[in-house]
Amino acid sequence: MGRLQGKTAVITGAARGIGAVMAKRMAEEGANVVVADVLDTADTVAEITKAGGSAIGQNVDVTSDDDIAAMVEATEKEFGALDVLVNNASIFAALQPKPFLQIDNDEFDKVMTVNARGVHQMTKAVVPAMMRAGHGKIVNIASGTFYYGPPGLSHYTASKGAVIALTRCYGRELGDKNIQVNAIAPGLTESEALQGHTGFDPARGPTVQSRSIKREMLPEDLLGSLMYLITPDSNFVTGQTLNVDGGKVNL
Ligand SMILES: NC(=O)c1ccc[n+]([C@@H]2O[C@H](COP(=O)([O-])OP(=O)(O)OC[C@H]3O[C@@H](n4cnc5c(N)ncnc54)[C@H](O)[C@@H]3O)[C@@H](O)[C@H]2O)c1
Repeated sequence: MGRLQGKTAVITGAARGIGAVMAKRMAEEGANVVVADVLDTADTVAEITKAGGSAIGQNVDVTSDDDIAAMVEATEKEFGALDVLVNNASIFAALQPKPFLQIDNDEFDKVMTVNARGVHQMTKAVVPAMMRAGHGKIVNIASGTFYYGPPGLSHYTASKGAVIALTRCYGRELGDKNIQVNAIAPGLTESEALQGHTGFDPARGPTVQSRSIKREMLPEDLLGSLMYLITPDSNFVTGQTLNVDGGKVNL
């Protein structure tokens, strides 16, 4: 029996990339998975169901309270409860790295709104269902950029710093509700949309060399940490951020 049998997991930004890989793994472990994204989720849902798993797709913009409310309603109607939330959606691969002197206010606001306020909006909407169930696991996907501040991604880095901060605050506020909130900070990961993204070429070689484990990182490298943080193994862990980066950053 899978470690998530009978659980329902919502994951945002799961139409492609890291989110899609995580969604498939949670389904393999027996979870009913709600695949939420602004992009078409049909491929991720089809892959899960073809493999014998359980999933529904939801068209959700994480900055829209209406979309989120409809998703929570559909989830409870379809699966009865909501046990796991993975806040993975973000503006990332869509970015072209550029100096902060060239980032205008609109672009800054958009990145902060989706990447940070989106986590606030999603978590706020999902936690009441977790409280009704009497338990919950929330994992926020942050980024190792917060620790070393790479050039070209200042707005993104700031937004992921906010995600780490929110993780700490939510962990404290939900500690006595049996809801654990943690984050994963991935290193540069060769996700679907990053492959062939020339904007990240200057970072690729130096990043691999800066790791203790000198190889490219793949979305699958995140799955062990995800499973730890959404199963009872982590029941006494909250407000933490787990670096999964091949040993680049030592805290
Ligand atoms: N790939 C990396 O190197 C890396 C490193 C550190 C952290 N991360 C983080 O991992 C997560 C996944 O990254 P990825 O590499 O798969 O990138 P990606 O850009 O391919 O995935 C992001 C997903 O979020 C979705 N999304 C964007 N805006 C949305 C919105 N408003 N509402 C709902 N969905 C929205 C996109 O459609 C996409 O499916 C992101 O949070 C990213 O910041 C990635």
